Amino acid sequence: TRKVTTHRFMEMKQKGEKISMLTSYDFTTAGIVDAAGVDGILIGDSASNVMAGNTTTIPITIEQMIYHARSVTNAVKRALVVCDMPFGSYQADCSDGVRNAIRIMKESGCDALKLEGGVEILDTVRRILDAGIPVMGHLGLTPQSINKFGTYAVRAKEEQEADKLMSDAKALAEAGCFAIVLEKVPAKLAAMVTAEVPVPTIGIGAGGATDGQILVVADMLGMTKGFSPRFLRRYADLNSIMTDAIGNYVSDVKSSDFPNESESY
Ligand code: KIV
Ligand code: NA
Repeated sequence: TRKVTTHRFMEMKQKGEKISMLTSYDFTTAGIVDAAGVDGILIGDSASNVMAGNTTTIPITIEQMIYHARSVTNAVKRALVVCDMPFGSYQADCSDGVRNAIRIMKESGCDALKLEGGVEILDTVRRILDAGIPVMGHLGLTPQSINKFGTYAVRAKEEQEADKLMSDAKALAEAGCFAIVLEKVPAKLAAMVTAEVPVPTIGIGAGGATDGQILVVADMLGMTKGFSPRFLRRYADLNSIMTDAIGNYVSDVKSSDFPNESESY
């Protein structure tokens, strides 16, 4: 199995081959996700919500992201592995951002980093790219700025915000980002950005015209409950499967059915 590269992502856009991505945060899940054939795996800072139960991505630390990312890279043989830079690790200043980027690359073994934002972080993105680290952009709904926006509603519905998103996307592509995530924006806008920028767009809640798609693995497997945005397609009901299996285990223990003789030494 040949490792997927950032160059391969660019080639897939040029050839019109759709790019499939999912998140992962741990060794066991990442091994399954990779073997099932996704092109890219993101260690999202959504680990803050999905793994730790926080209501936002704000509190997750660099150390925690590195722990998750190392767990994932220990499992992955084929997919391109991208790690989110967490909130606070690149917003303060450029040199801080570059140092933290280098640290995540060294300690996690991932292939690329993702940063939220457009022109506001362009200098930092350039410096990280100059250090030889591939960068994925992230525009539209950017959860690290939730306290500024106050809502997880669809972004860039108004012309002014749509224009800014388009110019941000162009600036990120021009700076050398190898791909850009578009989160929760109108399908029409995502289609326009996809047509205008030379690098692949990876959508989540951004319609069918983007060059690729990404979902949070626990959401698409139906492990999480009470989170049902329109863009989420559930490919399994692992919540029910796990609940049933665990219920069966509990009753087998209670009834002394488990363990039996063949399961004993
Ligand atoms: O943290 C995350 O899971 C993400 C994806 C949803 C794009 O940033
Ligand atoms: Na994220």
